[in-house]
Amino acid sequence: MSTFDRISEKYREKSLVQQKAAAKLFDLLKIGGSDDIIDIACGPGHITNGLSKATNGKVTGIDISEGMIEQAQALYPEIEFRKIEAEDLDCNDMFDIAFCNSALQWFDDPDMALAAIFNSLKKTGKLGLACPATPSWSPWFGRIISKVTENREIKPTFSHWKNPWFHLPTENDYKLFFEKHGFVTIFIDIDHEQTDYSAEEAFNNSVKEEIKRQSRDGRIMVDFNRLYYIGRK
Ligand SMILES: C[S@@+](CC[C@H](N)C(=O)[O-])C[C@H]1O[C@@H](n2cnc3c(N)ncnc32)[C@H](O)[C@@H]1O
Repeated sequence: MSTFDRISEKYREKSLVQQKAAAKLFDLLKIGGSDDIIDIACGPGHITNGLSKATNGKVTGIDISEGMIEQAQALYPEIEFRKIEAEDLDCNDMFDIAFCNSALQWFDDPDMALAAIFNSLKKTGKLGLACPATPSWSPWFGRIISKVTENREIKPTFSHWKNPWFHLPTENDYKLFFEKHGFVTIFIDIDHEQTDYSAEEAFNNSVKEEIKRQSRDGRIMVDFNRLYYIGRK
């Protein structure tokens, strides 16, 4: 069972930061009314569903997590969802747009995933990708995670958070990373984002309790650098 199987049911209501990023990516992509779209690492499908409203083309969501895919299928039966790793994506020249929000940092093999995503696009198809960039998180967040991982029940869920997320040092390194896989960069930017979280917005009780302990008023400011990338095949 993957990390995200355990949290899939709560993910949708707790993923406000990711939804904000998805909305920005959506605007940057300028989706055409007949575009065929693949949502890479689609989670529980709420963003895939939003994408499906923007096009009459075919929309597909894929994710590594069985829990996420089961939930997406139950919520949006009219959309095709597949449980498959981005690295193993087996589509060739099928999509006008590959949408990938808040997931690159989790991929075991980002190079393999990017090569598969590139292949899945039609000629001149576009990739829109957003993900946390450096630094992956602030020291207090690291303290919360290490505190939380002391809890035996929670430990498996956060096990690979301890390992820093995949990230590259600079915007130019990201540009070179995508271009190495054949993409022509149309837009790249790293935004500094600050989000004010309340303990009540935390995924689970241990995180909630830890936020309360670490902050004075039960609120905590999360600092993120977030990459937004649009590239063309
Ligand atoms: C933070 S969630 C983002 C979900 C959705 N894209 C969103 O913006 O709300 C990260 C997702 O990446 C998925 N994931 C992680 N590694 C993956 C991989 N190698 N291939 C496909 N999906 C993966 C997880 O299962 C999870 O659903």
